[in-house]
Amino acid sequence: MRLDVVTIFPEYLEPLNVSLVGKARARGQLKVHVHDLRAHTYDRHNTVDDTPYGGGPGMVMKTGPWADALDTALADGYESGAHAPTLIVPTPSGRPFTQELAVELAERPWLIFTPARYEGIDRRVVDEYATRIQVQEVSIGDYVLAGGEAAVLVITEAVARLLPGVLGNAESHRDDSFAPGAMANLLEGPVYTKPPEWRGREIPEVLLSGHHGKIARWRRDEALKRTTAHRPDLIERCDPAAFDKKDREMLSILGWAPDPAGRPYGRFWQRTEGMEE
Ligand code: ADE
Repeated sequence: MRLDVVTIFPEYLEPLNVSLVGKARARGQLKVHVHDLRAHTYDRHNTVDDTPYGGGPGMVMKTGPWADALDTALADGYESGAHAPTLIVPTPSGRPFTQELAVELAERPWLIFTPARYEGIDRRVVDEYATRIQVQEVSIGDYVLAGGEAAVLVITEAVARLLPGVLGNAESHRDDSFAPGAMANLLEGPVYTKPPEWRGREIPEVLLSGHHGKIARWRRDEALKRTTAHRPDLIERCDPAAFDKKDREMLSILGWAPDPAGRPYGRFWQRTEGMEE
């Protein structure tokens, strides 16, 4: 996979040299090209922004430098044999970034990121490139960052670990929380390692039992508990077919019942009365 990032802060992307992504690059599984947007300005002050039409606070990134940088990156990529680029525009007003989207992007051969600063990029840039290549506007969450670079790091790491051969064990992401196609999207429960006692704290006995069935059941119950506590919305949306008898017993203990109205707005489960915190 080829990645291009166009930014006014190339040094912000230094973490792409480290750890999982850095190793994938060293092995040639990932080719990363970081471009300085200011190298595509032709005035004395290397201007990349200007005041917004219609007024309002902040500045808007100009069309010229972005078009010049994107055309250069596209030409370089095509020349070196890359094809089917996807332009990824990080923005709080984009489509939410999920594991499902990470899987989708991991199948693309070439991603080009345009992390913006200020109030964003002149809309005509996205509209123009959307006529030529696939474009995805993506948000990593309901909060506003000072720029899109941190979003690029997040998206890149989630995508890179899905590339063939990047994680040691090809099975390792099948069980990820949020893996698409999983019967139920539950949060993973707690994990433990040696020593068996630390500051007077022991590990749950079942984990030492060697009984695979009991361990799997315990892990499932912990996942149901944690999901109830942190992401009740995930339980509400779980297809009842995703749960076996023991799951249902645990859900009932945790205060869940099938929604009597039956699936209104995709909600299968509701909290039973008196169980709200
Ligand atoms: N740029 C600023 N905030 C962002 C967010 N939440 N997601 C993606 N890009 C952003």
